[in-house]
Amino acid sequence: MDLPHGSSVSINGARLVDRINELAQIGAIDGTRGCSRLAFSDADLEGRDLVVTWMRDLGLTVTIDAVGNVIASTSSDGAAGAVMTGSHIDTVGTGGRYDGNLGVLAGLEVIEATLAAGIDLQRPLAVAFFSNEEGSRYPPDMMGSLAYVGGMSVESVLEVKGADGTVVGQELERIGYRGPAPCPGAVPHAYVELHIEQGPVLDRAGLSIGVVEGVQGISWTELLLTGQSNHAGTTPMTLRRDPMAVAAAVTVAARDIALELGGTQVATVGSLTLHPNLVNVVPAHVTMTIDLRNTDEEALQFAERDLEKRTAQLAKAEGVEVKSRTLARFEPVEFDSRVVDQIEQLATTRGLSTKRMPSGAGHDAQMLARICPTGMIFVPSVDGISHNPAEHTDEQDLIIGTQLLADTLLALTEVTW
Ligand code: GLV
Ligand code: MN
Ligand code: MN
Repeated sequence: MDLPHGSSVSINGARLVDRINELAQIGAIDGTRGCSRLAFSDADLEGRDLVVTWMRDLGLTVTIDAVGNVIASTSSDGAAGAVMTGSHIDTVGTGGRYDGNLGVLAGLEVIEATLAAGIDLQRPLAVAFFSNEEGSRYPPDMMGSLAYVGGMSVESVLEVKGADGTVVGQELERIGYRGPAPCPGAVPHAYVELHIEQGPVLDRAGLSIGVVEGVQGISWTELLLTGQSNHAGTTPMTLRRDPMAVAAAVTVAARDIALELGGTQVATVGSLTLHPNLVNVVPAHVTMTIDLRNTDEEALQFAERDLEKRTAQLAKAEGVEVKSRTLARFEPVEFDSRVVDQIEQLATTRGLSTKRMPSGAGHDAQMLARICPTGMIFVPSVDGISHNPAEHTDEQDLIIGTQLLADTLLALTEVTW
């Protein structure tokens, strides 16, 4: 059947929700609805195998590339020229069941519904799950999609060492997902990703759909602060070189910078490790991370410089040495206005309430935007909670978003740029 202009297929909401819930059993966090499937872990392997089985059951051509990205296409030629969707199935250590997983399983649902309708596609459809989007175990985040678009070499990916001392290449080999497909990968015709908002904007306003215009810039820094380990009872305060005191002051400084800059600037210290981490010992070293984000590149650069200056002053005053390492740095991204307009128009046609908005979280779509026209659809996150097992999106919103994804992907199969 040829696709009459502007028509779509009806997705099967129950099948979508069943798949989300089945995948969420893997790495389930006891007593919660959340998941822990860190990149390249045993749980990630189990999740990958399940999704690949579903892809193969639909008769799709499945390719696995040299960094473990998995792409399933309706064409035996793979993703070249396809209208692609997808996201990730890895999670942060204390994640929810929707972050990333929705986008992948919604893509699978759209393809299943399209194949069942016997539609004669003008371009193939493809659904991907990219490796290590979260970056919690191995920096940077969006690692797989970054490599897919040629922004990081396979060699550099494989040698990344994680916070737990393991190395990406060895873990990828261990779980059997170092595949033969080339990376960088094939250039799609377009890429559209469905994701939960992970923030409070849509939920608070009672809106159905976020039409995402772009993704804010991300800057991740790791600081190693080295002082003098000593006795907690005998070392006078004036004679200390305490790296934890500096870490605390830097944490407050990062927060102050974000509050002073205002706008979309945010700052987070999410990881702190003390050595030797004992009650009666002034620490020798502290390792901490700082996550800065802003939609405005100049403002983000200002925040980075300001934090560096304040850190140097605070460390000097305490006699503490600072070593700084960039874990991730991505400039803000603007999505293709033609794709953004298309999503908004299709949502309006369905009678859905929408809001144009930036994404506060990082996404694989921001990498795909480097090689093809790209956009994103958000659905609400209840109370704006995410990166937390309590993350929740109502079933109705999962289904509405997936239907809009179907409308958008099918419309894009008919568009020529
Ligand atoms: C990735 O999910 C990020 O925004 O931290
Ligand atoms: Mn995500
Ligand atoms: Mn995430």
